[in-house]
Amino acid sequence: MKIQLSFEYQIFENDQQLVGNLQKLLKASKEAVSLSYAPYSKFHVGAALLLSNGEIVKGSNQENASFPAGICAERVALSTASSIYPKEKILAVAISYHNSADDSSTENILSPCGICRQSLLEATQRQQSHIEVILSNPAGKIIYLQNADNLLPLAFSSDHF
Ligand code: THU
Repeated sequence: MKIQLSFEYQIFENDQQLVGNLQKLLKASKEAVSLSYAPYSKFHVGAALLLSNGEIVKGSNQENASFPAGICAERVALSTASSIYPKEKILAVAISYHNSADDSSTENILSPCGICRQSLLEATQRQQSHIEVILSNPAGKIIYLQNADNLLPLAFSSDHF
């Protein structure tokens, strides 16, 4: 038996195609980039979460001289939201970056690392509703996905316990 998994995403040339407060959310993620502490990689990442109460929670990557102690922007934002607003659902996440080691690097659209995908999946399962995802590059291009789960097919989760 063969099984094929697929999912759809959209590419937007700029933020004008984002609806509702998703434009505002993307802007917040860009603001969060400037709060990043990334003296080692020089790769500054900002994440912003839109919550069901309308609040926007920001996070940025926080590095450490002991490299594995560093944490990604997405998980900083997820932990902050869960700590401050544990009962609110996360409706959407937006992610932005700036590579200060190479200012000309603006084309790649950032996509979350595996651990952050796992954390987004946990948040989705915990709240039992989808999280929309906006991925961006500094040049303004955007990838939009309706459901963060799609980023981690065949994932390990509490369903396996
Ligand atoms: N990083 C994030 O914050 N989010 C991602 O989705 C990818 C990577 C951070 C981790 C590290 O501080 C730097 O970017 C370089 O990997």
